[in-house]
Order: sequence, then C-alpha cells, then structure tokens
Amino acid sequence: MDLTGRKIVLGVTGGIAAYKSAEVVSRLRHSGAEVHVIMTANAAKFIAPLTFQTLSANPVVTDTFAAPEYWNVEHVALAKLADVFAVVPATANILAKMACGIADDMLSTTLLATKAPVLVAPAMNTGMWTADATKRNMEILRARGVHVVGPGCGMLACGDEGDGRMSEPAEIVSRIEEILLKKQDLQGLKVLVTAGATRERLDPVRFLTNDSSGKMGFALAEAARERGADVTLVKGNTTAKVPENIRIEEIESANEMLQAMQKAAPEQDVIIQAAAVADYRAANPAKTKIKKKAGEPLVITLEENPDIAKAIGAMKQPEQTLVGFAAETNDVIRHAKQKLASKNLDMIVANDVTKPGAGFNTDTNIVTLITKEKEEDLPMMSKREVADAILDRILEIRRK
Ligand code: PMT
Repeated sequence: MDLTGRKIVLGVTGGIAAYKSAEVVSRLRHSGAEVHVIMTANAAKFIAPLTFQTLSANPVVTDTFAAPEYWNVEHVALAKLADVFAVVPATANILAKMACGIADDMLSTTLLATKAPVLVAPAMNTGMWTADATKRNMEILRARGVHVVGPGCGMLACGDEGDGRMSEPAEIVSRIEEILLKKQDLQGLKVLVTAGATRERLDPVRFLTNDSSGKMGFALAEAARERGADVTLVKGNTTAKVPENIRIEEIESANEMLQAMQKAAPEQDVIIQAAAVADYRAANPAKTKIKKKAGEPLVITLEENPDIAKAIGAMKQPEQTLVGFAAETNDVIRHAKQKLASKNLDMIVANDVTKPGAGFNTDTNIVTLITKEKEEDLPMMSKREVADAILDRILEIRRK
C-alpha cells in the first residue's frame, strides 16, 4: 500500500521484542511513509538508536530530551506531526502510564499530547499481560479508542509459553495502514441509527426507563458518518455526549420512536437499532402527580408498547439492511436468534449485559454478531471499535 506523505511516529519501549520494531520501520519506509522514532531509555538498552536512525533516515528521539531536531521547535512537535502514533513494542509500563496520563519521559509526554490515532502492540510476559492491573489499563485504553494489535500466543523470551508475544511486523504494519487509509466505504449510503432509552410517563413527573446512555448508538452514528454515510440518529433519553454534525430526531416514548422510524425508514439503506426501548408503558398515565397513599400499595397497569424493530422489519425493502441489538442476561444467543427471526433482521448484535465491560453505560462492549449463516464472537472492544466491526459486517451482507 502506498503510504507516501503519511507520517508515522513510532514509540519503542524496552522489551526484547524491540528488535522487531526495526522491521516495522523498514516496511513502513518501503511503503513510502515518513517515520520518526522515539525510544525510551530502556529500549535503547535492547537496540541501538543508530539502527532506527539508519532505517528511518530521521534523527531518533530518546529520553534525554536532548534531540535538538524536534526539541528546538516544541516538545509536542512529534505529537502534532503524527498521522498515526504506534507504540511497538508496548510494555506493561508504558500501557500503565498511558492509562493514567503519566508523562515522565519523551515518549509518554508525546503520547499524552498527541491527537493522532494511537496503536499499541503489547509485548510482555504472560503473567504481566494477565495481571489485573494490566487488564484494567487495557480496558481504559480500549475505551479511549486506542487501537490494539495482539499480543499473540507463543514461546516468550523468558521461556514461558502463553499470551504476550508481540504481533509480527507485517500484521502491525497492516493495522497502521488500516488506520491511515480509513475508508469512505459507506459513501452514498443512508444510515439510520437509534440510540438511548425511551421514557414512558407514569405521571407528569415520573417515568419508566432503563440505563441506556446512548454510547453504543452514538458510536455507530459517528463511525458511519466518518465512513461517508448520510446518517440520521433517532435519539431517546441519553447521558453520553451527543455527536455533532449528525441529523437528530429527538423522541421520548416508544410510540414517538415508532412514528419517527416509520417516517424515516423507507429512504434508508441501513437501519441499526441500538436503542433500548421499553416493552411496556402505563395504560393510563396520570394527568397530575400520583399522590402517596400511606400503607397502600400502588398498582400501575402496564400495556404493551409497539415492537418498533418488528414494525420496521415488516416494511423492509429487499435492498435494505436491518440490524438490531439484543440486550440479554441469560440464554443470550438463543434469545438473540429468536429476535433475529421474529423482527426480520439481517443481523443481530447480542450483548450479555451481565458481563463487566459490556452493555449499558460502559465505554466498551462484548458482543456476538449473529446472522442467519453465522455467529461471530468479538472480544471486549471500545464501543467505537464494535461499531466499526458492525459496519464492516453490514457491508459484507450487502455485497452478497
Ligand atoms: O446506550 P448504551 O449505554 O451504550 O448501552 C447499549 C445497549 C445495551 C442499550 C445496546 O448495546 C443494546 O443492547 N440495545 C438494545 C437494547 C434492547 O432493548 O434490547 P431488546 O433485546 O429488548 O430489543 C431487541 C431489539 O428490538 C433492539 O434492537 C431494540 O431496539 C428493539 N426493540 C425492542 C423493544 C421494542 N418495543 N421495540 C424495539 O424496536
């Protein structure tokens, strides 16, 4: 892939896999990229800066803060210059610093300052990789949108066998290319996304609702927009930051959402329903505030709300792609498959909302993508990464 004009900043930290970063630099340069290397003091014990200087044809910045090429301009020069910032290998130490925002050397300072997409290629002993602290740090980084490649499983330098082996240079370079050449593969498509929770009024001051923050739906809307789609967001009650530059239809109740969806659906190519819709509403919402009657139970009769996804499934046109979500707490896959069929969906995204790091109001999600043909379990990812994976599958379905 031609990377001419693309600028990669490569952070190298102190692990035995540091020697493989030299091949990453070499491959990137062969593709035409401009590469700038920042090494930690420990990395320089594993491999000489001269190697990277020769391969990148650029001065190598080390921890001494003494590299005049960049330091004279400003210490965040490399942070600003990067199109992609890759840390290869990424030790447990740098991952922890990144997660906490520690900036105590040139690499961590530049990483904290950068607005570029960041990719890390973790490499460490299995015990360190599976330690609770590292797991938590990875959750934080993933939720922040940091891209992660590997680690793989295999023989480690310490003699152990297990997870922690750095991904191969070819794989790392292809992830960098993927990030750089972020596709506009949804251009020309109209995408409708639902997000957030419905509210069903019991009286003027009370309502039935759920914990949906809108994060999953917003991530889908943003990802679709960035990939070139014309996006409409039908939004219930949310607590997450609302995306900018997206057409938004605000609704409160399931009935309002149904109306908005029925109006917008016919002209859409893709409809993704990530909202958490209340299945029931009060049969007779009170016109005035319900008063407490001490000692007496309050009985509220609920009636069924319309199933919006089912209604949209019933009016589905052959060229449309419909995707629903299933928020489940038990028998996740069986329930999700039932919904896939009953709502006439092309794909359902099943999330077991009892799992830590999945479901409501988290920055990450753990989902299974289910179509009539296959089931695909995805690892814990940021909601943005989940969104991109869903959009990738939607395009596969539409190509068939
Ligand atoms: O918003 P977040 O905090 O990021 O949380 C994300 C999420 C957990 C809300 C999301 O990932 C999710 O699972 N959304 C679907 C929640 C849900 O209502 O699931 P369900 O299994 O009850 O519904 C199945 C599908 O039918 C959904 O696509 C839902 O939008 C739709 N539905 C449900 C009921 C109803 N009356 N009408 C519907 O259209």
